[in-house]
Amino acid sequence: MSSRISRRNFFNKTVSLSTGALLLKYMPAFGAQNKGLMPIIVTSHANKTGQNAMEAGWEILARGGTALDAIEKAANIIELDPEDTSVGYGGLPNENGIVQLDASIMDGKTYNAGAVACLENIKNPASVARVVMERTDHVLMVGQGALDFAIKWGFKEEDLLTEKARKTWLRWKENQSENDVWGPPAHLREKAKLESYWEGFPEEEFHYGTTNVLAVDMNGNISGITTTSGWSYKIPGRVGDSPIIGAGLYVDNEVGAAGATGRGEDVLKSLASYFMVLRMKDGRTPQQACEDALEMIIDKYKSIGSDYLPGEKFIAINKFGETGCATMRRREKPKMSVMTKKGYIKYEGTIARPM
Ligand code: GLY
Repeated sequence: MSSRISRRNFFNKTVSLSTGALLLKYMPAFGAQNKGLMPIIVTSHANKTGQNAMEAGWEILARGGTALDAIEKAANIIELDPEDTSVGYGGLPNENGIVQLDASIMDGKTYNAGAVACLENIKNPASVARVVMERTDHVLMVGQGALDFAIKWGFKEEDLLTEKARKTWLRWKENQSENDVWGPPAHLREKAKLESYWEGFPEEEFHYGTTNVLAVDMNGNISGITTTSGWSYKIPGRVGDSPIIGAGLYVDNEVGAAGATGRGEDVLKSLASYFMVLRMKDGRTPQQACEDALEMIIDKYKSIGSDYLPGEKFIAINKFGETGCATMRRREKPKMSVMTKKGYIKYEGTIARPM
């Protein structure tokens, strides 16, 4: 449990600083740099894989392709990265060591959406979500039904647990409790040289994972994907915000698109992506909409007397190509990848800090 506890301790420390009202420290005008620079594609992934994904999506957009094709291509690249333990193949498994993926897609042009949850053995859940959207009259398919459906559509069943993810999970599993039989007994631990056993194993990791990919194409059509392996070591069957339209993703061609990463439970309760799109509809910039959604969640917790500070990162774009990105409870400012005809840029968003 070490990782989980240390996170909690860190969080409590952070929260204990917060005795009064929480204020968002607004950065100077942000996100308007891209205005009018359509097409545009963005992702919450700001690493090298995120950049590769943006470049691949951009190729489609630049030759007049659809936002839908561009986001699928980009999301697939992130899903297939075996080193990324938060999304698709290589994602950290549930508590039983089984990788269960959630993903959603929404097409602003057609007001259509598709999603899968608790999907096992398929490397590209975002593509299965697209087939649900385009080839069925359903929006959300889960578990075995989603897998059967994917196989019927020609998706290949594969083991998604990489060696890195399996070893990370094993390390977590052994550290969970003194009261189970994972790991040597305490009285033999010294002899078992437990620590040296872990040499060559990855460090224990814990996260909520997830990536969002949003785009506006040359015709002004907007689409989005959110895809994730979810909360690491989750209880089997747990579904997060990512496959829930309105929570982990929302798109409206008349307005823009928004997506969430981070602890899905807060996003599910707040329907944060729908909220962000509504805020943009009311005239807020994408940046303001992301910050508004964070404040909305803080306010809800304040209303029940809790100074809990959730750790989500939100991203948004509007139909004019403006961008936004904001988070809270992190030490570093959030970043997002943005690709326009000006090239690839890493944008730095804003962070909410307790006073
Ligand atoms: N945001 C991803 C999850 O909580 O599952």
